[in-house]
Order: sequence, then C-alpha cells, then structure tokens
Amino acid sequence: MIISSAEFIKSNTDVRFCPETQLPEYAFIGRSNVGKSSLINMLTERNKLALISSKPGKTLLINHFLINQAWYLVDLPGYGYARTGLQQREKLKKMIESYILFRKPLVNLFVLIDSRIEAQKIDLQFFEWLGTHEIPFSIVFTKIDKLSKTKLLQNKTNYEQKLAETWDPLPPIFVTSSQTGEGRDDVLNYIETINQQLQKSY
Ligand code: GTP
Ligand code: MG
Repeated sequence: MIISSAEFIKSNTDVRFCPETQLPEYAFIGRSNVGKSSLINMLTERNKLALISSKPGKTLLINHFLINQAWYLVDLPGYGYARTGLQQREKLKKMIESYILFRKPLVNLFVLIDSRIEAQKIDLQFFEWLGTHEIPFSIVFTKIDKLSKTKLLQNKTNYEQKLAETWDPLPPIFVTSSQTGEGRDDVLNYIETINQQLQKSY
C-alpha cells in the first residue's frame, strides 16, 4: 500500500472527544518504550509524525493520524511504566481502557512486544483482558534489528508456545524494525486487507 498522505488530526485524553468518523482505525498499544510511536513513523515514512523518545512515558495522549484520507492510525500511551507514579498510571490505564472498550471505529489493536525479551506477565494479562472483552488484536514484535535472526526465531517460537496455552488460533504476529523498515509491508498489507473487507461489507 502506498501512503500518499498522513496528517496529525488531534490529541486528547478522553475517548468521547476522539474524531467523529466512520473511517476504520488501527491503534498501537504496549509497554512504554516498546516502539509504538516509532512504528507509526516507520509505517507512514514520516519521521516526525509521532513523537518519540529514548525515555519511557513519552506519549501521554490518544493521538489520531489520518492516513490516505481513508483510515486512522492511533498512537496510545504505554502501559506499565512504574516511574510515572500510581495516580498517573491509573489515569492512563482508565484512558486507554475506555478508548479500547468504547471506540466504535477501532477495528484492530496492534499490541507491541519487544522481540528481545521473554513473555511478560503484564502483556499476557493484557491479552486476557482483550479476550474477555472480545477486542480483535494482533501482535507486533518490535526492534528486531537488535537481535540475530536465530535469536528472533527462538524468541518468537517461545512466545507462540506461551500464547498457545491460552489462544487457539493464535493472533497474527508481525515482526518489525522501525530502524530498518522490516515488516512494514506485512503490517500495511494486513491493514489494507481489513479495509477492503470492511468496504465490501458496507
Ligand atoms: P511511550 O510513548 O513512552 O510509551 O514509548 P513508545 O512505545 O512510543 O516508544 P518510542 O517509539 O518512543 O521508542 C522508544 C525508543 O526505542 C526510542 O529511543 C526509539 O528510537 C527506540 N526504538 C523504537 N523502535 C525501534 C526499533 O525498531 N529499533 C531500534 N533499534 N530502536 C527502536
Ligand atoms: Mg509513544
């Protein structure tokens, strides 16, 4: 898919004030610093569309980006960042949860996982929560430029085995690097396929 336009629309803290639209949207979630904002920039090939930082806790709002005038990408704050303090963490958790539960145009949530580390409880619990609420999601392994192909395959296999304890079938899993652009076509093709299916069903 060619990205001919990508524009920032608005940021806010409340799902009720997200853009009023019938267009489908795809949101990115995962632990702080996993690379959500970087992935949005990589997919759109716009370096400064979403703000990134080497320190966790950069994105604190729900950010809407309109792509090709036809669908939205949504950058969300990360979860589980301890240093933000309990109150702030609870506030972000509520904001993220109500976005996920009540945002009608949301058609797929991409949950990002750092490909270097083994399955973490917080992520597995989050998948369970999504399952309970029947939220469609897929998984994106990030930062694959930081490990060897052998290690990546090993980590991915381990992760799939862990997921298989709960999930059948497994959600789609993509492997990406925002540094090298690997996985870009796979993610964009997946989005395009869903967009086309939605158009047919209208
Ligand atoms: P929060 O908004 O704080 O939740 O973080 P985030 O998930 O949006 O992460 P962000 O995109 O800001 O990236 C965090 C750090 O990881 C930055 O220093 C990025 O440059 C780095 N990073 C993200 N993706 C990749 C990647 O694929 N490869 C490498 N090597 N670094 C990456
Ligand atoms: Mg971010």
